[in-house]
Amino acid sequence: MSDAIGVSLLGAGNVGGGVVAALTRGGERYAHHVGRTLELRRALVRDASRPREGIAPHLLTQDVADILADDGTHIVVELMGNEEPAREYIAMALRSGRHVVTANKEVMAKCGTELLALAAEHGVRLLYEASVGGGIPTISPLQRDLLANEITAVTAIINGTTNYMLTEMAQRGAGYEDVLRDAQQLGYAEPDPTADVEGIDASYKLAILCSLAFHVAVTPDDVSRQGIARLSARDFLYASELGYTIKLLASGRMEVGELVATVQPTLIAKDEPLAKVDGVLNAVQIEGDLVGRVLFEGPGAGPAATASAVLADVLDVARDLVAGRTSPVALARPAVRVRPPAEHHSRYYLRVTVSDQAGVLAKIAGALGDNGVSIASMVQFEADVDAGTAELVFTTHRAQGGSLATAITQVAAMEVVREVGNVLPIDGQGGPR
Ligand SMILES: NC(=O)c1ccc[n+]([C@@H]2O[C@H](COP(=O)([O-])OP(=O)(O)OC[C@H]3O[C@@H](n4cnc5c(N)ncnc54)[C@H](OP(=O)(O)O)[C@@H]3O)[C@@H](O)[C@H]2O)c1
Repeated sequence: MSDAIGVSLLGAGNVGGGVVAALTRGGERYAHHVGRTLELRRALVRDASRPREGIAPHLLTQDVADILADDGTHIVVELMGNEEPAREYIAMALRSGRHVVTANKEVMAKCGTELLALAAEHGVRLLYEASVGGGIPTISPLQRDLLANEITAVTAIINGTTNYMLTEMAQRGAGYEDVLRDAQQLGYAEPDPTADVEGIDASYKLAILCSLAFHVAVTPDDVSRQGIARLSARDFLYASELGYTIKLLASGRMEVGELVATVQPTLIAKDEPLAKVDGVLNAVQIEGDLVGRVLFEGPGAGPAATASAVLADVLDVARDLVAGRTSPVALARPAVRVRPPAEHHSRYYLRVTVSDQAGVLAKIAGALGDNGVSIASMVQFEADVDAGTAELVFTTHRAQGGSLATAITQVAAMEVVREVGNVLPIDGQGGPR
């Protein structure tokens, strides 16, 4: 039997193809890094009759049992996507004593804690660098390089589709529907864009990052989410005039032992590094008590970039195998109280369309003030003389989400208010201690 380290793939689509191409091209280098050759053993696909570049047809299978029965497979790389059967196959591979590398954010976000425990139980490793930020190192820095820090905040742009769309809205003044159509034509957005535009994909990735950063159990249900569909070209225009741009920010922090995790369109000052992360790029900013702020930026998707992260994990495991190192134990992740949006604190941006008449401003200011929301600035941006309306944009000082929601309900009910167009948080420091 060969002394190669055997690697089998579950899935040989976009990322799988990138992994095979990189393995073929970099094989010699990888053998040098590891001390033994990496050998592609089998690849699970739905349709094994379709040829796959770089994979000999006899290596393709439609039955996961073929991979689990292969004694030469040491590392199973899951690149299928979706929750099931990927989760089940990962668990089967771990139980069979195989190390597993996955790029699957949904599985790791929803079931990471139990799968990591299963891996530890069977003395094998489960690595998932590619599950967040594609080619950008995000998992490994949190697990290793920044481990000495108390992480105070993680703030990220981790969905390339929406970042492309919001960049287009900001730079071209285009509307939401237009940029969505363009993104779909360019292949950046799926025909059904829900997972991206509703922030679901980003909530998976944020749950993974928060679990690692704060050493607690976090699932996607713990992340409060707001999608980007309500944003209008006017929000970008007004935000820009106030010195901000708008990004779909994924943000996590601990406040007095409680988790605050959100994915929401957020105003961010133009001179902040994250405000300059444009197009399909991703970025993850981590703040630690020792290191201060570090920012990782780069391609969050794509076969080659994602293969970079997948293969880093494969090489890591392969080196352990060669060195005969045992797997680290899984760390316990305690449950944590998650603060509901009503208990979040932020500065806010409000856009309100009102009847263009005297006394309106005082009424709105009164409702905000009565609920403890204090106005930081107010600008009247546009008056539509024909409709007799004006558009008012407020920014507030830090306020509690629940107080703001009550005030907004009162404002929306006023006769002089035609519409509360949008309410968005403004990026800033964490909540009161
Ligand atoms: N695309 C990216 O840039 C990117 C970036 C970061 C992370 N990821 C993650 O990487 C994973 C793979 O993404 P991808 O874009 O490569 O997906 P993809 O192109 O759709 O490939 C999926 C592969 O899995 C196979 N597959 C799916 N369900 C299967 C099943 N039930 N049984 C057997 N085979 C099955 C498919 O077989 P067939 O080929 O026969 O259909 C295909 O080869 C996902 O978890 C994704 O979130 C992707």
